[in-house]
Amino acid sequence: MITGASAGLGEEFARQLAVRCGTLVLVARRGERLDQLKAELEEHHLGLRVEPVVTDLSTDEGLTVLLRTLKEKGLFPDLLINNAGLGDYGEFATAEWSRIDAMLQVNIRALTKLCHALAPVMKALGGGSILNVSSLGGDIPIPDFAVYAATKAYVSSFSEALRIELREFNVNVTTLCPGPIETEFGSVARRSAGQETGLPARSWFYVEREQAVHGAIQTMLKGGARHYPGTQVACLAAVLGILPLAAIRLIMGFRPRQVKMV
Ligand SMILES: NC(=O)c1ccc[n+]([C@@H]2O[C@H](COP(=O)([O-])OP(=O)(O)OC[C@H]3O[C@@H](n4cnc5c(N)ncnc54)[C@H](OP(=O)(O)O)[C@@H]3O)[C@@H](O)[C@H]2O)c1
Repeated sequence: MITGASAGLGEEFARQLAVRCGTLVLVARRGERLDQLKAELEEHHLGLRVEPVVTDLSTDEGLTVLLRTLKEKGLFPDLLINNAGLGDYGEFATAEWSRIDAMLQVNIRALTKLCHALAPVMKALGGGSILNVSSLGGDIPIPDFAVYAATKAYVSSFSEALRIELREFNVNVTTLCPGPIETEFGSVARRSAGQETGLPARSWFYVEREQAVHGAIQTMLKGGARHYPGTQVACLAAVLGILPLAAIRLIMGFRPRQVKMV
């Protein structure tokens, strides 16, 4: 089961996993996108069953619809990719509460709820995999991306603890921590057309989505804990991992605000 499969990394996960799966459950709000992907994947992968579930993961009702659909259709996923997520780029004090709330609900609450619902299923099946999509941003506090980075810090921390809890049940938990990737993420995170990119990153730092997803799947298949796609991102993560908080605080204090693409 892949959440956020109507675009970006989620859509790419579906494409790359289609050869390995008997059934794919694809979750997002834009049903027409999921239907198109279903048609494409079923045409190219004989015997593959694709079940789109159109639901809003930011609401209790949406989560209930998803879990009820799985039950009614007798679907017991042994692979959960918690990929759906969104950002909001700009000063915290001027953010719209609805956007902050949506980030908390989708990035944290839905991800946690789906792990809670499916971990027992995987334990009962004798094994499984959970791949939680976090971010390099989860490793550092980011001004202008404060809530987003904090939600991803939650995802990384939660996933590491869950990995230890579930390993004796043969359930592997992997965390994907990408740096910037060209998807719809930037336009969703942007608050206005005036914000040219909505993303605080330089072009040389970007990684192709195919590469990020391929690396994540390989790491998951090997039972790895974490994947940082791209050499530049992996190196930065390694440096951040050894820097004291005081140094990170200093560096982030000097970081230019609302960088535009070059
Ligand atoms: N792109 C990057 O630079 C980057 C970097 C680090 C981490 N990430 C993480 O990677 C993950 C995927 O992002 P992406 O780059 O692929 O972004 P994207 O292209 O904007 O795709 C986001 C996906 O999440 C779904 N989604 C958002 N809100 C939802 C909701 N309320 N209910 C159900 N589905 C919802 C969207 O589907 P609908 O709109 O159809 O509902 C879409 O399929 C996210 O967790 C993001 O935080 C991205």
